[in-house]
Amino acid sequence: MKFEKNILCIGAGYVGGPTMAMIAHECPQYKVTIVDINPDRIAQWNSDSLPIYEPGLDELVKATRDRNLFFSTDIEQGIRENDIIFVSVNTPTKTFGTGAGMAADLQYWEKTARQILEHSTSPKIVIEKSTLPVRTAHAMERILNSTQKSVRFDVLSNPEFLAEGTAINDLKNPDRVLIGSRETEEGLKARNALVEIYANWVPRKKIITANIWSSELSKLVSNAFLAQRVSSINAISALCEKTEADVSEVAKAVGSDSRIGSRFLNASIGFGGSCFKKDILNLVYLCRHYGLDDVADYWEGVIKINFYQQERFVQNMLTAMFNTLAGKRICLFGFAFKANTGDTRESPAIYVARRLLEEQAEVVITDPKALDNARIDLANAQGKIHFVDDPYEAAKGCHAIAIMTEWALYGELDYARLYRDAEKPAFIFDGRNILDPQHCFEVGFNVFSIGKRPRTHF
Ligand code: UDX
Ligand code: ADP
Repeated sequence: MKFEKNILCIGAGYVGGPTMAMIAHECPQYKVTIVDINPDRIAQWNSDSLPIYEPGLDELVKATRDRNLFFSTDIEQGIRENDIIFVSVNTPTKTFGTGAGMAADLQYWEKTARQILEHSTSPKIVIEKSTLPVRTAHAMERILNSTQKSVRFDVLSNPEFLAEGTAINDLKNPDRVLIGSRETEEGLKARNALVEIYANWVPRKKIITANIWSSELSKLVSNAFLAQRVSSINAISALCEKTEADVSEVAKAVGSDSRIGSRFLNASIGFGGSCFKKDILNLVYLCRHYGLDDVADYWEGVIKINFYQQERFVQNMLTAMFNTLAGKRICLFGFAFKANTGDTRESPAIYVARRLLEEQAEVVITDPKALDNARIDLANAQGKIHFVDDPYEAAKGCHAIAIMTEWALYGELDYARLYRDAEKPAFIFDGRNILDPQHCFEVGFNVFSIGKRPRTHF
């Protein structure tokens, strides 16, 4: 069958996989190929057990795979046969050399740019899908145009705003699609080609175009603003605990102001995920690079509060449980960085679990989707750790339950039964405010919720 367009995506991860599945689903007239350097990942994408858990993704892949969506390890062939190439490889925080712990590690991304250059024999539109520091497109253009090759490359920025757990709906009904380009005749032509792809299902008024630097920067700034809201309410949660104000009531009152808005004001144990911390560190690094130290300090505060909130949670547990956790069994309900995903990257649960082990507690972890990742995250941790599927089994005989992830199922458990099977005095630390603290108190628990007054029997 002859397809209208041939589209390639390099990188079959949390962003590349769902995004391309959506394009293939909404545009049966296009052929979409996803390649990855990791053969195991590609084999999983081609199997019944996809490498990532995302509600609705299985159905999308089933409907499109081998029809107009293909997964392959042949990156070179992919580059040769496709003229529109999305780059969605990972750009983690650098762990070595200049900028270690702050800047984005661009080695995977640069390797991809060089591969595209080497194997291209026809003009290509190269689209940055990965989150990158502002002005990366300039570096990409320099690599792509570094030889005398007479092939034309146009680089576009098209950051992805999907959130895990709601990725399919976010892709199907995005608040906006952002496309940045050079404002030259060729740049605008390339930009229009990408607008036409999204216009197959996204209303045109939601497709925003911008200059390429604005587009790159907007992704970092969007994540920084979202994370800032979480750190803002988390900072206030600490004050609520000192003053008997209730953070949920404060968030409701504050969020009812339409200028502020009610979303993203849930106090928590702290934000996790692959983006927020990485992108803010990246933003801070960029600001320092340009000599904007005050601006850098301002954004760095968002990260500091996030760390403070996680450590504060552990300190609250210590204080409440008579200043020692040694030998106590503590059950973590959830390990994923948020509900409806198996992803544990930067999950606050990793920090909390490690700190509890440091305090010589015995840690029992349960999560409906993230136990495999939890085992990997804690592979080198010292101490007693157990991974248990069933939450009732996991909590049996524990001195405390700590809610790490807001999975709906944890709100629906029988807390009277959990109390009966718990070691007494029994504690609950609700790091997500998903439980009814009064009910848990009435069945017998001592209850500590983020940003709320404690309810104790002593
Ligand atoms: C985020 C952005 O939302 C998305 O647009 C971008 O493309 C990638 O980064 P994601 O990391 O998948 O998405 O999840 P998100 O829903 O933003 O949550 C991030 C973290 O903040 C989670 O740990 C979540 O539990 C926490 N959070 C979120 C809160 O603690 N309180 C809130 O009110 C909202
Ligand atoms: P994200 O959350 O941004 O999608 P992931 O880490 O989930 O990030 O996915 C990035 C994917 O990119 C991984 O599957 C990784 O194997 C792949 N990748 C990294 N470098 C290359 C490369 N040079 N060529 C092809 N794929 C790559």
